[in-house]
Amino acid sequence: KSAARRVSVSAESIDPTKQMLAPKKVIDKSDEDRERIRATLMRSFLFKHGDAAQTADLVNAMYEVRRPRGVDIIKQGDREANEFFIIDAGECDIIKGTNEDGSERRLVTLRPGAVFGELALMYNTPRAATVRAASDEVVLWAMDRESFKAIVLVQTMQKRLKYEAFLEEVSLLQGLSSYERATVADSFVEVRYGAGDRVIEEGAEGHDMFFLVAGKAEALDKENVVRIYEKPGAYFGELALLNNEPRKATVRAATACELVALDRAAFERLMGPVVDVLQRHEADYALLTPRGSVAAQPAATA
Ligand code: CMP
Repeated sequence: KSAARRVSVSAESIDPTKQMLAPKKVIDKSDEDRERIRATLMRSFLFKHGDAAQTADLVNAMYEVRRPRGVDIIKQGDREANEFFIIDAGECDIIKGTNEDGSERRLVTLRPGAVFGELALMYNTPRAATVRAASDEVVLWAMDRESFKAIVLVQTMQKRLKYEAFLEEVSLLQGLSSYERATVADSFVEVRYGAGDRVIEEGAEGHDMFFLVAGKAEALDKENVVRIYEKPGAYFGELALLNNEPRKATVRAATACELVALDRAAFERLMGPVVDVLQRHEADYALLTPRGSVAAQPAATA
């Protein structure tokens, strides 16, 4: 008897965050609705990489909410936050504070696949913004606080918490609002390389940009090291995405490296506000590369 009990002790049961969770909810719904939720989740950058178990839990826990145009689904400042949402159909405006003339300040419009309402549930704070139905009929999938904590917070939002401090230090991303920065973490794919591994191959097609989390990497031009990345938050691989061109240099892990990657879709969705910074950075490459005109000049004129 005691042997059986010992066998059943899993890593999960000794993780205190998991011990406190109530049993996962199953809200009755038709097969058609289950299929619709699944389709919405696959459109969502937050959930599309989730595993089968998480998808099943989400499908079980969600229920449909429909709201006509103009209705506030969430009101800024509300302290009674109990729901988290994903948009199935229609659009929602995010409204926060007021403009100088006193009118409401609309920050963004969210489309199907977008999620909202997570902040108040994550941090136990009042609702940070108003979310208003901006289509004739908005169709949402909702879940309650307990389900959010059991399924979304544990599996998805932990990434935000993990990278919160890191993102504050990434100088490139200082042009984003703190909320935009937090959502960057949702799209991070964590990757590791061993010393000597090539992360990027010159001339190859580029699909991702990378941020260094730990370790040291180096850019090579014909096997010469032209740049070293060792500060957490340093980034590379952005040019292929910015300019739609093949990789301009090779990047190799100089030591074991921990990186986070953003794919092209995430890059295009999230990096808009810092494109000018990326372009300024691009101009610097010519100054630092031995092949670049400026670096070659002094020898010729000396
Ligand atoms: P919450 O504070 O629970 O409710 C309002 C939601 O608006 C918030 O969670 C976020 O999901 C969403 N939101 C979108 N953009 C912003 C923003 N710039 N600041 C705060 N909340 C935002």
